[in-house]
Amino acid sequence: MNIKLTSGKSISSSKGESILNALKRHEIFLLSSCGGKGTCGKCRVKILSGKYKTEITGKLTQSDREKGIVLACQTFPEEDITVEIPEGSKLVVGDKIALAKSKDLNELLKSLNAEITPIVKRLDIKLPPPTIEDYISDLERLKRDLELKGFTGMRFSQTFASSMADEMRKHNWEIHLAYVDGPEAIFVTSEKQVSRYGISVDIGTTTIVVYLIDLSDGKLVDVGSTYNSQIRYGDDVITRIIYAAEGKGLGELREAVTGDINNLLETITEKHKIKKESIESAVISGNTTMTHIFWGLDPEHIREDPYIPTVNFFPMWKAGTARIHINSQSPVYTMPCVASYVGGDIVSGVLASKMHRKSEIALFMDIGTNGEIAVGNNEWLMTAACSAGPCFEGSGIKHGMRATEGAIESVKIDPKTLELSLCIIGNTIPAGVCGSGMIDAISEMFFTGIIDRKGKFVREIKTNRLRQGDEGFEFVLYKGEKDIVLAEVDIENILRAKAAIYAGISLLIKEVGLGLESIERVYVAGGFGNYLDVDKAIILGMLPDLPREKFKFLGNTSIAGAYLCLLSEKMRKEAEEIAKKMTYMELSVSRNFMDEYMSALFLPHTDMGLFPTVAGLLKK
Ligand code: FES
Repeated sequence: MNIKLTSGKSISSSKGESILNALKRHEIFLLSSCGGKGTCGKCRVKILSGKYKTEITGKLTQSDREKGIVLACQTFPEEDITVEIPEGSKLVVGDKIALAKSKDLNELLKSLNAEITPIVKRLDIKLPPPTIEDYISDLERLKRDLELKGFTGMRFSQTFASSMADEMRKHNWEIHLAYVDGPEAIFVTSEKQVSRYGISVDIGTTTIVVYLIDLSDGKLVDVGSTYNSQIRYGDDVITRIIYAAEGKGLGELREAVTGDINNLLETITEKHKIKKESIESAVISGNTTMTHIFWGLDPEHIREDPYIPTVNFFPMWKAGTARIHINSQSPVYTMPCVASYVGGDIVSGVLASKMHRKSEIALFMDIGTNGEIAVGNNEWLMTAACSAGPCFEGSGIKHGMRATEGAIESVKIDPKTLELSLCIIGNTIPAGVCGSGMIDAISEMFFTGIIDRKGKFVREIKTNRLRQGDEGFEFVLYKGEKDIVLAEVDIENILRAKAAIYAGISLLIKEVGLGLESIERVYVAGGFGNYLDVDKAIILGMLPDLPREKFKFLGNTSIAGAYLCLLSEKMRKEAEEIAKKMTYMELSVSRNFMDEYMSALFLPHTDMGLFPTVAGLLKK
C-alpha cells in the first residue's frame, strides 16, 4: 500500500502499520508528544482520498472528522491513500534554539578558584631511536622510558598500539604521550601540537547543547544547539523509556541523540577548521534516562519499583564506544547521577550554583521537563524529582509550544476591558503559548476574576473571549486565522504541574525540619528560567512567596557544570562529592506528598497564609 502525500512524495506502508509509523520510517516526523498513544492529539493529518480504519478519539471534533482529519497514530490505511500534513503537525527538530548565558563561564571557573587541569594529561618523551644493538620493540621502548620517569603500571590498548608506531617515527621519537588517570595511554602526538580542544555536552530531554572549548585557556570557541531528535518518540522521559523497550527502540533513541551531537560537531569544527580528531576529551551532562540512552544502557529499571538505574557513577568510557565523532580514544566523563530521576544535570546545576560551598540554605530548581529540586548548603544536600511533567514545555496543552519563535511568552490583561496585550517571541503571528506565557495568562486571569481559585472559568464574566470549545470552556488569547486558546483542561494540567513542584519544595524543606522562610537563596535553572516572571510564578503558587531579591536565574546550569568538569579536576572531584552527599527523597512513596500536593492545587494555595504578598495584592 502507498501513502501519497500532497507534497508529491509517495511512501510505502505495511498492513496494520499506522500512518505515523509509516511516515517515521521514511523520516517524516510529526509532533507526537504521547509517543503514538492517541492521547496528545498533536499528530493530526487530513485524508483526502482512500479507505482507512481509524480509532474514534475525543481529541477530534465532529467537524474535524467531517473534514477528514484523523490522528496519524490511530489511523491505518486499507488501500492507497492521499494525505495532507498540516504545517502545525510537522515536527522541526533542527531549529536553532535560544541559549542561556555562556560568556560568563570563564568568570565562573575563576570564581571557583579552579585551575585548568584537563582530563587528558601529557608527558614529554624523547626516545632514543631503535638501532641494530638497541632492538627492543616500540612499546617496550616506551615502557622503558616511562619506568625511568617513575611511571609504572601504564595500560596500553590495542587501538593505542596500532597507531603508536607510525606516530613515533613521524615525530622523530620526540613525542607527547597523552594519557588519563589509571593510568592509561590514549594516543601519541607531536610535541609541537599545541592546540587542544574538548567538548561539553548537555543532553536535555528537549534540547541538546554542545560547547567546543579551547583547553589551553578555557575559552568557548563556539556553541551548537538543537532540539533533541528523540522528541520524535515522545516528549517526556517515561514515554522514551517505554519506547526503548520496544524492538530496536533503544538503538533508535541512541542513534537520534548521537546523530544530533555529531551533526552539531560537524558544523562547529568545519566552521573553525578544527580537526575532529584533535578533540581530546568530552563531558556529558544529562538526566539519568538521557545518560543511560546515550551510553546504550537499557533505562527500563528506572521506571520500575524500586527505581534503580544501571549506573550512577560512570567509568571513563571512550568516545568510540559513545559513537561520537571525535578522537575515538578520547575519554568521555559523564556527570554523576544521584538516582533514577535526579541526574547529572542536577549535580551540574548544584556545582555551577556553588550552593554546596556556602553556609546559606539555598533551593535549586530546574523547571524543565521534569522539575527537579535540591535544597541544602555546604553541610547537607537533599534532592527530589517532582514529576511535574513537560507541560511548561508545551506538552499536554492544546496550543502549548516551546519558547521559540511564534510563542506567546507574556500576557497582560486590562482589568477594566479584559483586553489582552501579548508579547510574542520573534514579534510574529502567534503559533502557540509557551511556559512563561501560560504562567502569565493564568495569574492575570486570576487577578482579573476570569478564573477562580480552583482555576475554573467564572461563567458570569463578561467577555467574548470566553467560549465553549471542543473540550469544554476555553479563553481566547489570540484571535486570528488560527485562534490560540487556553482551555480549562489546560489550566488543570498547569495547576497539577505547579502543585507538584510546590509540594516537592515544601516537603523537602519540612523533611529537614525547616520552614520555607529559612531559604536564603533560590536558584532557578533551565531554559525556562530565562523568561520566568517571578511575581507571576508566585501568584500561580509555583514558587514560594519569598522576598524577590532571593531569586537568581542561572540559565542552563547543566552545560555550565559540564564546562567546569571538562576543564578542572577539582571540579570533577566536587561533582562526585555532591552526587555522593545528596540524599534523594522519593516523593511518590511519601505519604505526605499527596496532602501537600492537594493543598497546592489552588491559586496560589489552600493556605493563603503561605502567600502573604499575593493575599495583600488580592485585598488591594
Ligand atoms: S495522539 Fe498521535 S501521537 Fe499523540
